[in-house]
Amino acid sequence: MQEMFTSIAPRYDLLNHVLSFNVDRMWWRRTARRFQHILKRSDARILDLCCGTGDMTFALRQRAGKSGSRIWGADFSHAMLQRATAKSAVDGSSPTWIEADALTLPFPCTNFDLVTSAFGFRNLVDYDAGLREIVRVLRPGGECGILDFGEPSGAVGAIYRIYFKQVLPRIGTMISGIRGPYAYLPASVERFPPPEQMLERMKTAGFEQVSWTPYTFGIAGLYWGKTA
Ligand SMILES: C[S@@+](CC[C@H](N)C(=O)[O-])C[C@H]1O[C@@H](n2cnc3c(N)ncnc32)[C@H](O)[C@@H]1O
Repeated sequence: MQEMFTSIAPRYDLLNHVLSFNVDRMWWRRTARRFQHILKRSDARILDLCCGTGDMTFALRQRAGKSGSRIWGADFSHAMLQRATAKSAVDGSSPTWIEADALTLPFPCTNFDLVTSAFGFRNLVDYDAGLREIVRVLRPGGECGILDFGEPSGAVGAIYRIYFKQVLPRIGTMISGIRGPYAYLPASVERFPPPEQMLERMKTAGFEQVSWTPYTFGIAGLYWGKTA
């Protein structure tokens, strides 16, 4: 899995924007806006999990402005983090990048006010262990935002499935020159639990309040959780 992400790192940003028609930028910004109340606090500590080349992390950084909150981006692919570092500002406002597995985070318990993950959580081999690890590092009353793909229903869903399963893997393979990862993408979305199941699993992991907000007809969506 780690090697797969490392193999697509060089073309990851380009492919993301092409394959999503740049809608991904809107989704990252919308997610960051949702957590403005935390990001604007000077004492807030924020972790963006599975940060890849850092676009979700940068959206959080931008929304936080000069509030003084501290932001970490964590990923287990060194190549992805190298790209994130290269994209970072040199003025000292950059997030801190950490090479780490989301299932065994190198942080103490109750360390963060907010944990986010964009299009990364779906790839974890054990969703329940991933959720428990997020709850572990969150402070009491801390929040979590998991942005990931969904499976829209109705006519939009039918068109989207053709695009996602037939067109996207072909374009992905063409631009990246690598076959596996872009066939893996639709398969991983199918494997991901539907919203009602995911919300139950979040409660079991220790979130007191949970919700799911669909983005763009449910093509993506934000899982939100808050600990007691
Ligand atoms: C599809 S990319 C998403 C990157 C970024 N968050 C974004 O929105 O563009 C998924 C990322 O999750 C990372 N990842 C997958 N499983 C992981 C794990 N167990 N621990 C840490 N990172 C992981 C991969 O290395 C990859 O960079």
